[in-house]
Amino acid sequence: MGIYSAAVEEITWYTGLSPAAFFTIAALMVVVYKTVSSMFVSPEDFNKPPVAMSIEKISQSNSDFLNNVMATTTNSQPLQLGDMTEQQLRAYNGSDPNKPLLISIKGQIYDVSSSRMFYGPGGAYSMFTGKEASRALALLSFKPQDINGNLEDLGPEELQVLEDWEDKFTEKYAKVGQLVREPMPADQAGCGDETHEIEN
Ligand code: HEM
Ligand SMILES: *[C@@H]1O[C@H](CO)[C@@H](O)[C@H](O)[C@H]1NC(C)=O
Repeated sequence: MGIYSAAVEEITWYTGLSPAAFFTIAALMVVVYKTVSSMFVSPEDFNKPPVAMSIEKISQSNSDFLNNVMATTTNSQPLQLGDMTEQQLRAYNGSDPNKPLLISIKGQIYDVSSSRMFYGPGGAYSMFTGKEASRALALLSFKPQDINGNLEDLGPEELQVLEDWEDKFTEKYAKVGQLVREPMPADQAGCGDETHEIEN
């Protein structure tokens, strides 16, 4: 009696299965194990011992998950900066890395920090950061003299363009405050600064 037939006899004795059924089930179990464990283990971990890699991977994805939950919770705390003047808004133009990036549209201030590549220093639209940008957005203009809140002479189509921008920002970014007029002492009246032209 060879080793093979001895093994077959043992298998049949212990499991009550025919050798073909036994090997099929064993193969399926291997496939299931590989499939399930590959859900937890990335390929570069395959040279580590299986138990250690699974536990390490699972606890890592747990802490990733927790970090994400915490980041989401922290970010979704609606940051409220409240009312500020255009002058105060300028502090949020990206020059201070500890401050959020803010843009005002129609006097509503949005936190655009999540689009740092657009609005951060060197970003394509950084000229709007820390500013009331309504006029520039309505006119699709990057001219410094258009980066303000003066809508007085704009036509209905331009106002519609502005409204579309407003919708986009309302949907994408958190509102964190509102622009208020600069306190305007009598001795500053008529200084011609466009920062006094905000409409609400
Ligand atoms: C040649 C003209 C332009 C091209 C090719 C262009 C291209 C783009 C592209 C590819 C994006 C990214 C869109 C996204 O991933 O969500 C974008 C975003 C933006 N564009 Fe332009 N753009 C142009 C002109 C303008 C003008 C004239 C303005 C306003 C004065 C403007 C304002 C913006 C703003 C504010 C965003 C960012 C919106 C956000 O925060 O998601 N763009 N543009
Ligand atoms: C932001 O504003 C400050 C002055 O308030 C200015 O010195 C700085 O260059 C501005 N930074 C950017 C990135 O525009």
